[in-house]
Amino acid sequence: MTVPVKHDNFKRCDQSGFCTRHRVYADKAAAEGSHRTIPYQITPESLTWKNSQLQGTIVKTINASGETVRLPIVISFLESGSARVVIDEEKRQKGDIELRHNSIARKERYNEIEPWTVVGGLDLSKSATESRSESSTTVKYGPDGKFEAIVTFAPFGIDFKRDGNTEVKFNDRGLLNFEHWRPKVEKVEPEKKEGEEETKVEEVPAGEDESTWWEETFGGATDTKPKGPESLGLDITFPGYDHVYGIPEHAGSLSLKETRGGSGHHEDPYRMYNADVFEYIMDSSMTLYGSIPFMQAHRKDSTVGVFWLNVAEMWVDVIKEKEAHNPLSLGIGAKTDTKTHWFAESGLIDVFVFLGPTPKDVTKAYGELTGYSQLPQEFAIGYHQCRWNYVTDEDVKDVDRKMSKHQIPYDVIWLDIEYTEDKKYFTWDPLTFGDPKGMLEHLDKSDRKLVAIIDPHIKKTSDYHVVNELEKKDLGVHNKDGNIYEGWCWPGSSHWIDCFNPAAITWWKSLFQYSSAFVSAPNLFIWNDMNEPSVFNGPETTMPKDNLHYGNWEHRDIHNLNGLTFHNATYQALLSRKKGELKRPFVLTRSFYAGSQRLGAMWTGDNQASWDHLAAAFPMILNNGIAGFPFAGADVGGFFGNPEKDLLTRWYQSGIFYPFFRGHAHIDTRRREPYLIGDPYTGIITRALRLRYSLLPAWYTAFHEASIDGTPIIRPHYFEYPSDEAGFAIDDQFFIGSTGLLAKPVVTEGAESVDIYIPDDEIYYDYFDYLKYDDKGSKKIDAPLDKIPLLMQGGHIIPRKDRPRRSTGLMKFDPYTLVIVLSKSGTAKGELYVDDGESFDYEAGAYIRREFEFTEGALTSKDLGKKGKLTDKYLKTMKSVGVEKIVIVGAPKEWAGKTTVKVGTGEARMEWHGEEGGKAAWALVKAPKVAIGDDWKIVF
Ligand code: GLC
Repeated sequence: MTVPVKHDNFKRCDQSGFCTRHRVYADKAAAEGSHRTIPYQITPESLTWKNSQLQGTIVKTINASGETVRLPIVISFLESGSARVVIDEEKRQKGDIELRHNSIARKERYNEIEPWTVVGGLDLSKSATESRSESSTTVKYGPDGKFEAIVTFAPFGIDFKRDGNTEVKFNDRGLLNFEHWRPKVEKVEPEKKEGEEETKVEEVPAGEDESTWWEETFGGATDTKPKGPESLGLDITFPGYDHVYGIPEHAGSLSLKETRGGSGHHEDPYRMYNADVFEYIMDSSMTLYGSIPFMQAHRKDSTVGVFWLNVAEMWVDVIKEKEAHNPLSLGIGAKTDTKTHWFAESGLIDVFVFLGPTPKDVTKAYGELTGYSQLPQEFAIGYHQCRWNYVTDEDVKDVDRKMSKHQIPYDVIWLDIEYTEDKKYFTWDPLTFGDPKGMLEHLDKSDRKLVAIIDPHIKKTSDYHVVNELEKKDLGVHNKDGNIYEGWCWPGSSHWIDCFNPAAITWWKSLFQYSSAFVSAPNLFIWNDMNEPSVFNGPETTMPKDNLHYGNWEHRDIHNLNGLTFHNATYQALLSRKKGELKRPFVLTRSFYAGSQRLGAMWTGDNQASWDHLAAAFPMILNNGIAGFPFAGADVGGFFGNPEKDLLTRWYQSGIFYPFFRGHAHIDTRRREPYLIGDPYTGIITRALRLRYSLLPAWYTAFHEASIDGTPIIRPHYFEYPSDEAGFAIDDQFFIGSTGLLAKPVVTEGAESVDIYIPDDEIYYDYFDYLKYDDKGSKKIDAPLDKIPLLMQGGHIIPRKDRPRRSTGLMKFDPYTLVIVLSKSGTAKGELYVDDGESFDYEAGAYIRREFEFTEGALTSKDLGKKGKLTDKYLKTMKSVGVEKIVIVGAPKEWAGKTTVKVGTGEARMEWHGEEGGKAAWALVKAPKVAIGDDWKIVF
């Protein structure tokens, strides 16, 4: 039985005090237009310029009598070419405020996000220059001083320019709205009847609605707001840009929609407030499990980005307007401005601006700050077999044996919450999992792994060592009164570990030692779920905002970071399981924030076994990728409900393109391991899985690329073709890494073909039969149930491993196949990255990185690696790994009759197959006997 998401459990904007206030503020500003006085000014005399930083004070006028509030501002210009604008509140910096309800919460605005999320890129520019006028100051910075920030004093605003064009504007619409601290003014009701108690009423300052300033109730829970109103709003305009992407996680299109109502638009802003929204609705701006407040704006040949480093609840309104520069043009050829309006409940304004100009530049600059994607162990990019639940250790072994028997490759089998004794993590149910060690050893025989779930709620019960230690060491989250917080989750009454506390991380590590009763083998890895955190009886299924974390920060201030801190603790724990053993951790998380990409994979939570949920997964995964977290996937088959056979089959054919590829299902669903579904489906699914496994060298190379420069693993059109306007809104087809593989999996019921969009005039070949497509535009590809629409773009060399195996570990020393996909001009290029797939030795040079190039009738392999301490040792282990086949797609006619190619001083055999019915000619070189780690040349 499934229950759809209760929309009513989650706030709409009009049910959130600060969301409403900022929208009202925006509406008023628009209504008043140019008559309005914007209350924020920089005092020019406060402004200093030192070491590429502008520091000064924004003064906010708060009433007609001219009273002001001081807001310190620091604008930093970074060596990376990014700029950062931080606005704080002086009174709170000094702790010069009073909290209500005797609260012990911190008085400052939350200013400790950086250690969790930022790993670099903060060096100040060495070359930025400032020049000031009476009304503004201009800073030139960035590569060759091509970027400019023009800070206007009154009203305060910033225009960011690249090559003289304005690309990003702050406070262009005057929506900067910084709710300063104020005491609650109570006044005595003047008319008091005889014998009645004195009643206090709140004084409402002119024009301001304070009904949600001091307290807010939703779904029966009251938030006491000891700091009163403290939210922040800022408008950010992208002139001339008609697409914005990013700010995951939402179930909707990649190109974000307008949010202020009207046909085809959302009614509510995009919300970011990590929440357990199971069986979520489609095409919605509603919040989901994770948040990354990073947005890219794109127009032809230009991409820019902004990242608001704030972890409180946040909403973003998006509107698009035709530029009104030239009234005579009547909108013909007029460009669109995308106008965004961001508001957060608390914290700082702390916004980074990236000026591109390419999508790659923007993701790279963002990754420099928050870190690039983890390079996972190789097994983690194989297939994961999960369900809630495999019920005994025998059951696990049985599934494992059946997968082997049916020759279905997989790497990891998963255990959901039922493996524990009464939902007590770090225990095994003695009745059903009596021999975890034996189970792990069994899996290890085929180099397979086990992932077990560990959630952040700790069952409150007397005979449980974990909760006893948590309580004794006081490592739990506290309620507003400073006592350990108690709520309800899977185990019933529970406490929550507070991973903001360094001592909690130290303790967490101790629970994962091999010497502990729980972890008995190195092939056990971890799944972190419910870390938004999910609290069944909490407001919006999460924690009360006035709960307190380490350092007495209110939960409201840190909410969106909570999931990352738990994920981080587990990551650190896996790193330190045993002294001297340094294996890359694998930890899946449901909740995430900017920076989570360094720690593992995410998945899109509790979807449904329906075609619309299948279709929704790609835009979500693509969006996560451009927001710096590409190791993403969705539950294959759909979590809730029982998929029909064709849906399950299509889902596997799609899932093989998820960077994180896991089948999962709810406890109430029927078993659906691929061997159960029967033929022809089992066969079709097995072939899809084998395709994923044979392309693992290409996938791993794409993961490596993501880990060094933040490039997404599956890439949307605009990312690869930033000049091709026809592709900017496409989010149902994508490229895999830099391989030139272009996929458009079938995600609609009963489809027998798909229309794929080809963005350029290069030649494309069908992956399976080499059917040629040789011009730009939309093409129909036949896609009966056993066919996956997948093209190869001419000009690439794709590395594969074609021998079917049970797991990635067993493929380690298998020989390679190279597929040379010739371009129209008869050339091709490609890359391969290989390492041991498990340790950190690659950091000391233990890897192979090759560039393959085919040009002028010869294929060469060239070293792209940097030699390190462990390079030679590693290369020795790879000496016998060679290339067993080379396939040349689009092989020239002149090769007809040719039977050999030259390999160094020797030869190898070649077969040539002519063109046939639109299918390209191809050639096959057998056993060229070249090693994958060597330089070599093959002459055709
Ligand atoms: C949550 C997860 C789901 C898991 C279930 C039980 O709903 O999203 O994947 O199976 O909890 O742990």
